[in-house]
Amino acid sequence: MFMNFRRIHKCQVVQLLTACMVLCVVMVSWEELDHHVVSHMRSYTYRYLVNSYDFLNSSFNITSNRHRKDGSTNGLVTYPYLINHPGKCAWGDGKSGDDVLLLLFVKSSPENFERRQAIRDTWGNESFVFSELGATVRMVFALGVDAKRRSRVQRALLQEDQTYGDLIQQDFLDTFHNLTAKLITQFHWVHEYCPQARFLMSADDDIFVHMPNLVKYLRQLLSNKSGVKDFWVGHVHRGAPPVRRKESKYHVPYDLYPWPSYPDYTAGAGYVVSGDVASKIYQATQVLNSSIYIDDVFMGICAKAMGVSPQEHVYFSGEGKAPYHPCIYDHMITSHGHATDVRSLWQAATDPAVYGKARGFMGNLYCTAVRAMMLCRPYYQNSYSCMAAFT
Ligand SMILES: *[C@@H]1O[C@H](CO)[C@@H](O)[C@H](O)[C@H]1NC(C)=O
Ligand SMILES: *[C@@H]1O[C@H](CO)[C@@H](O)[C@H](O)[C@H]1NC(C)=O
Ligand SMILES: *[C@@H]1O[C@H](CO)[C@@H](O)[C@H](O)[C@H]1NC(C)=O
Ligand SMILES: *[C@@H]1O[C@H](CO)[C@@H](O)[C@H](O)[C@H]1NC(C)=O
Ligand SMILES: *[C@@H]1O[C@H](CO)[C@@H](O)[C@H](O)[C@H]1NC(C)=O
Ligand SMILES: *[C@@H]1O[C@H](CO)[C@@H](O)[C@H](O)[C@H]1NC(C)=O
Repeated sequence: MFMNFRRIHKCQVVQLLTACMVLCVVMVSWEELDHHVVSHMRSYTYRYLVNSYDFLNSSFNITSNRHRKDGSTNGLVTYPYLINHPGKCAWGDGKSGDDVLLLLFVKSSPENFERRQAIRDTWGNESFVFSELGATVRMVFALGVDAKRRSRVQRALLQEDQTYGDLIQQDFLDTFHNLTAKLITQFHWVHEYCPQARFLMSADDDIFVHMPNLVKYLRQLLSNKSGVKDFWVGHVHRGAPPVRRKESKYHVPYDLYPWPSYPDYTAGAGYVVSGDVASKIYQATQVLNSSIYIDDVFMGICAKAMGVSPQEHVYFSGEGKAPYHPCIYDHMITSHGHATDVRSLWQAATDPAVYGKARGFMGNLYCTAVRAMMLCRPYYQNSYSCMAAFT
């Protein structure tokens, strides 16, 4: 009897301790958990039930609030170009300039020389796209200036530009919180120097773009007789709540954006807009307050004010690398996080031998099964959604 009692007692102690530990863990993470869950619930409610974002027009419109000073936009100065190539889009035989299918605008930083070089050698190779795919593509890299080692880095950049002629640099510090300035540069540059481009793609310098697939996709769009209008495609964030944790890189304080939810936007890593949308966004950047420094979100605000909404493409990756597999290469458009393996991926993903394997009925069946196995695992959060396996 005594023994039995002791055993029960022991059991209870263990149970009690376990319960205590679980409680402690929950208590510690509760604040975080609570905040996360609640902010998403508020955000989705807002996005799907209220869903008009009418306040954007009036709250961000600066022309209606006060007169703009000459030579300035958004009450801020426009930064002068340090390096520029106004003739980039009309370059070559003089005729091809009218027929630019795609302008690639790659957001880079002064010190990322290696990444730019890898892109020039692979998916950003204009002559490859022209000779192999018969499409006219222009690529530029957008940069600010290096804060600490300005003069040394600047000399290297000038040299790099002399060789390749593809840098666009404006006189602002190249920092995370100045990305919106880069976004404004992008639309200003297109408006000023390449308004004839059918499409504009904005890309980070650590993404991989499957150029043959992208060009094929854009051509399909153009074959629509009614034309391409109001087109904005990428990996869409719907009803995303502003991050209010101070330690986060994406922290946005209430006085900058007091509402519980952002308008829909695409991940800034890589998205494509049609020429008319590029022009509309440019108009919006001229009249909207650009103090919100998350560039993707500012793009969403501009688009909403112009009545443009983004559409999802399952093979645009927001975060994360696509699985390395021929059945993925057959469909992929972008993949994120390729700072070092762009060259090998380009080789593998554009190899015609590998590429053909996914064709035919059996090939299709096999590839669907393989993709489902790779993308539909529970808790798999990288790159493409499970839906991508079946398209
Ligand atoms: C901003 O306000 C001006 C002047 O009231 C108006 O003409 C313009 O259409 C507004 N822009 C947007 C995007 O709401
Ligand atoms: C833009 O918004 C910020 C924050 O809401 C505000 O401090 C600033 O004065 C605004 N700028 C203009 C030109 O309206
Ligand atoms: C770009 O593509 C062309 C045509 O395919 C090729 O001849 C050239 O070597 C490529 N350039 C680089 C830097 O890889
Ligand atoms: C953005 O660039 C400007 C001009 O160089 C600079 O004054 C400002 O401090 C930069 N902002 C941030 C947040 O880095
Ligand atoms: C062609 O464009 C129209 C209008 O933009 C759209 O409704 C239609 O779905 C498109 N057709 C195809 C085949 O994409
Ligand atoms: C204002 O917002 C609505 C919807 O949010 C949008 O359709 C409209 O085009 C916006 N712009 C102007 C100038 O009213």
